[in-house]
Amino acid sequence: MIAKFLDGKVLAQTIRENLKNEVQKIKDTKGSFPTLISILIGNDQGSLSYVASQKKVAEYIGIHYDLVNFPSTIAHNDLIQCILGLNSEARVHGIIVQKPVPSQIDYAKIISSIDPSKDVEGMNLANIGKMILGGNRLVPCTAASVMEHIQSTGVDLRGKEAVVIGRSDIVGKPVIHLLLEKNLTVTVCHSATDPKKLIEHIGRADVVVAAVGKPAFVKGEWIKEGAIVIDVGINKVISQIVGDVEFDVAKNRASFITPVPGGVGPLTVVMLMRNCIEAFKFQRQQGVGVTI
Ligand SMILES: NC(=O)c1ccc[n+]([C@@H]2O[C@H](COP(=O)([O-])OP(=O)(O)OC[C@H]3O[C@@H](n4cnc5c(N)ncnc54)[C@H](OP(=O)(O)O)[C@@H]3O)[C@@H](O)[C@H]2O)c1
Repeated sequence: MIAKFLDGKVLAQTIRENLKNEVQKIKDTKGSFPTLISILIGNDQGSLSYVASQKKVAEYIGIHYDLVNFPSTIAHNDLIQCILGLNSEARVHGIIVQKPVPSQIDYAKIISSIDPSKDVEGMNLANIGKMILGGNRLVPCTAASVMEHIQSTGVDLRGKEAVVIGRSDIVGKPVIHLLLEKNLTVTVCHSATDPKKLIEHIGRADVVVAAVGKPAFVKGEWIKEGAIVIDVGINKVISQIVGDVEFDVAKNRASFITPVPGGVGPLTVVMLMRNCIEAFKFQRQQGVGVTI
């Protein structure tokens, strides 16, 4: 079996077009539009390239995008004050703070200071709680991208076995809950998982989500024939970007597989924009953040 590749760029393009149409309809009928504020502290290269991509995608979709760039010396309290100010601005519907942040900034406190209805990364405790209980619209973006890829296969997921390798707050943990919500039976592996058991867990999984951050960590021969394989990993090996899955072997066993690069990554920024539109709609329903 040769797996069908789950092309993140194609999926991103389809969803981007749908979002663009949705924003155009909002503009036509309500005379208003979503606004996203991105806060960057310092000039980390990875963050600079992510904000450039955010701006491009936001503007394509029709979301107003503003970058607020603070020097790396900004005091924690000044940043909090900025966020509290943005929380109370009706024209602002989404706020994202780029990571990494300098050492004087307590990232968890910063995220907690964002109004949950404007937390477009879905990392605020209120949004994480709602996600666990089901029904939250502001889901962490990478996890949302993983789910879009899985659902794009059209496979009936109910009762299927899933294994998630990695339990980070940003990827693994949200994915676990989103898979549960889709009625899969979920096993979670992490650094304390017995390596022999890890192979067993992966071997019986119909859906494998790898979010470890180690190049080709999941060997192709461990994959069950016909499994859906979602590779979240982004690892630089010499000058190449590779995933957490041994792609060349896994692709001969899986039914669907995400390539790296070009799989989960390209959709992540589109999920951020989708969250911003959801935040806009929610705030209008609640009568907050209404610009007209
Ligand atoms: N495509 C995207 O948009 C996107 C977004 C975010 C991240 N990523 C990539 O995804 C990968 C994971 O990111 P992350 O932020 O989740 O990483 P992370 O915070 O470093 O978490 C890695 C996870 O892997 C687990 N792990 C480490 N060694 C293991 C082992 N031998 N067996 C089983 N599990 C093991 C860790 O377990 P413990 O919890 O026990 O330490 C941890 O839960 C990275 O390559 C990152 O660059 C991609």
